[in-house]
Amino acid sequence: FMKRRRKWSRYPPGPTSLPFIGTMLSVDFQNPHLSFNKLQKKFGNVFNLQNCWTNMVVLNGYKAVKEALVHRSEDFADRPYMPVYEQLGYGSKFPGIVMARYGHVWKELRRFTLSTLRNFGMGKKSLEERVKEEAGFLCSEISSEEGRPFDLRFLVNNAVCNVICTTIYGKRFDYGDETFKKLLHLFEEFLKEETGFLTQLLNVVPTLLHIPGLLQKVFRGQKEFMDFTDMFVHKHMETWNPAYTRDFTDEFLKEMKKGKAAEESGFNYNNLRLVTTDLFGAGTETTSTTLRWAVLYMILHPEIQSKVQAEIDKVIGRERSPTMEDQVSMPYTNAVIHEVQRCGDVVPIGVPHRTYRDTELQGFFIPKGTTIITNLSSVLKDETVWEKPNEFYPEHFLDTNGKFVKPEAFLPFSAGRRVCLGEQLARMELFIFFTTLLQKFTFVLPEDQPRPREDGHFAFISSPHPYLVRAIPR
Ligand code: HEM
Repeated sequence: FMKRRRKWSRYPPGPTSLPFIGTMLSVDFQNPHLSFNKLQKKFGNVFNLQNCWTNMVVLNGYKAVKEALVHRSEDFADRPYMPVYEQLGYGSKFPGIVMARYGHVWKELRRFTLSTLRNFGMGKKSLEERVKEEAGFLCSEISSEEGRPFDLRFLVNNAVCNVICTTIYGKRFDYGDETFKKLLHLFEEFLKEETGFLTQLLNVVPTLLHIPGLLQKVFRGQKEFMDFTDMFVHKHMETWNPAYTRDFTDEFLKEMKKGKAAEESGFNYNNLRLVTTDLFGAGTETTSTTLRWAVLYMILHPEIQSKVQAEIDKVIGRERSPTMEDQVSMPYTNAVIHEVQRCGDVVPIGVPHRTYRDTELQGFFIPKGTTIITNLSSVLKDETVWEKPNEFYPEHFLDTNGKFVKPEAFLPFSAGRRVCLGEQLARMELFIFFTTLLQKFTFVLPEDQPRPREDGHFAFISSPHPYLVRAIPR
């Protein structure tokens, strides 16, 4: 007992906890990373919060986050139990990947997904060709705007979504397709619902889920989004021929047919719909939002845009399509893309983790089962690491000889066992789409538009506030 008490005396500090609601009033759920930054100043890099009776610890700054995710990777590899997801079909046997508890099923599904995506060309030429083709379609669409002011959000989303959709569902959407517009809208609703105060409350007080009509009200978008992905999976099952593998879904169906052992390792119908939804969800909005930040920074910093274009002209020219091989000869462009990811800070508070066993961090005791928030934003803007943390400064990624360097605190994809599974694909997309866009167009702010805001709008993902742009053909 004394030993345990001594351990608890080293539990991280935090704001005063109120009866029932704990410290929930200390966090603005619309902008949690900003609240965390304030609390970090007061309580240090590791502080505790209490969502009703759920213990949470927030990790801030490069040192604390790296120690947890890299040096104590397994201790921090679990995910919290989120009862609200059961409404969408998630459960202990059907965890998908992103929210799966750390264990056998997650390991199997992650291993299978990574190797299947690699077989379909992640990090290889075949998928690169698909991304290049899609970048071509995107440029044609942008050309048809004929230099008029437009919001490129929809087109960029469509392009990025097509890359993932062809890989998992064997389907791409034409630009302007009504079904796609609906899908995108539902996904936005999904993200909004995910981050609201009510969702947080329902996760820690699941009995509230029994209030009639509440579920329908809070999770309408998420449910409709799942119905949509179900439709893709059903179509596959109807047209599936085991002799051919068209895409990721077919490969999963094949695995499902391997019998009981496969079924118990997670290869069942419910996981098929959840894993494909996870890939779609994790792989589209993140990448397309990063590209929207990229164009925004280019219109705000025309001199940087010109330097990128000069490098493109020198290494690739105006006609040939960019390839991943060009990346090594383009340190400035590479640095700009990395700085877009650092400043854009697209997943500011990461995805919640949970301690798998009692552990220690930075001298604090953190018990098993604690929800862990990795404040990635505080790493990407850590004042002890970056020279100008709050400015767009590509030189963060260049040495004095202009060679590309990547500081260890560059963690937009997180790190450790749960590191983003699609990092390679995302990096390929960012490089090919960005260089193709700047090879073909110069992006400028329309004359009558105010200077766009540089702060992000948070709904799990931090995205730029809507802005209009003109794409002038080069
Ligand atoms: C997880 C960032 C693109 C699939 C994550 C996490 C982050 C992240 C921060 C949480 C890691 C953690 O829990 O510590 C990003 C960013 C992207 C991107 C910034 C684009 C710029 C993608 C793409 C895919 C993808 C293209 C799919 C092909 C996943 C999956 C997970 C994940 C499946 C869950 C991994 C697990 O729990 O084991 N990503 N991601 N992501 N990402 Fe990404």
